[in-house]
Amino acid sequence: MPDRYAVIGNPVSHSKSPLIHAEFARQTGQDIVYVKLPAPKRGFRTEVERFMAHGGRGMNVTVPFKQEAVEICQRASERAKFAQAVNTLIFEDGKIAGENTDGAGLLHDLEKNLKVGVHGRRILLMGAGGAARGVMMPLIARGARLVVVANRDISKAKALEERFGLFGNVRARGYDELAGTAFDLIINSTSASLQGAIPPAPKSIFAQDCVVYDMVYAAGGTTPFLTMARECGAAFTSDGLGMLVEQAAESFFLWRGVRPDTGPVLDMLRAAGI
Ligand code: ATR
Repeated sequence: MPDRYAVIGNPVSHSKSPLIHAEFARQTGQDIVYVKLPAPKRGFRTEVERFMAHGGRGMNVTVPFKQEAVEICQRASERAKFAQAVNTLIFEDGKIAGENTDGAGLLHDLEKNLKVGVHGRRILLMGAGGAARGVMMPLIARGARLVVVANRDISKAKALEERFGLFGNVRARGYDELAGTAFDLIINSTSASLQGAIPPAPKSIFAQDCVVYDMVYAAGGTTPFLTMARECGAAFTSDGLGMLVEQAAESFFLWRGVRPDTGPVLDMLRAAGI
């Protein structure tokens, strides 16, 4: 019997994770099956326990369960504890261990694939949800000069400033407070692109030659926000497909102890128009 894994979320039908993990498994000769597991909004824990009881070995966790996932772990890594969000569950001896590979996924995509450095950058991080939490500490640890967190609900941005301000130069702002300030790396961690929307940031955020990254992935590699960024002079833009593949590779490594080669998988997804 192959070892069983799943991605759990709501909604989860759009997920590319099964395709990515099937490619990783083929490439590394691992015998696994990886499926999509939709869970009702109030049924996360029940579905995880059911999957585990039926011999599951691990799971990826996606919207909206990343924060709830911390609570069901008997053991959480430092990265997951800092983020207070878990995107990878590892089942061992009937116990659940939690990890967060989003930050590593983003950094690998920026630095390794796109050759965009984080050190010394003035960064605008838009959004203060689970996705933002996962990348805060890795961005700070990599030497970002400033991380401004902007969110519609300013209290959530303030909570991130309080939590991570100890470790680096972190400021919380409402979108209207950004007028007149420009950034050289702008990361959209909001789910706005999923609704075809654009966060309400002023156009002055785009410094000449800035780099703009949208964590959402989109057919053709662009989102409404990235299109706007290019119109406003951004030198380089990227959607989040690379981050998706890189965070998946980190999860795969945690489960299987083998590191897949992400480049060919990313090329395959791009060629398929994903
Ligand atoms: P995730 O785990 O993907 O981060 P989440 O925790 O539900 O999901 O957070 C969604 C984030 O996207 C939040 O920061 C949300 O902003 P609010 O907290 O102010 O609601 C942000 N968001 C969603 N739609 C948005 C939009 N149209 N414009 C700006 N921000 C948006």
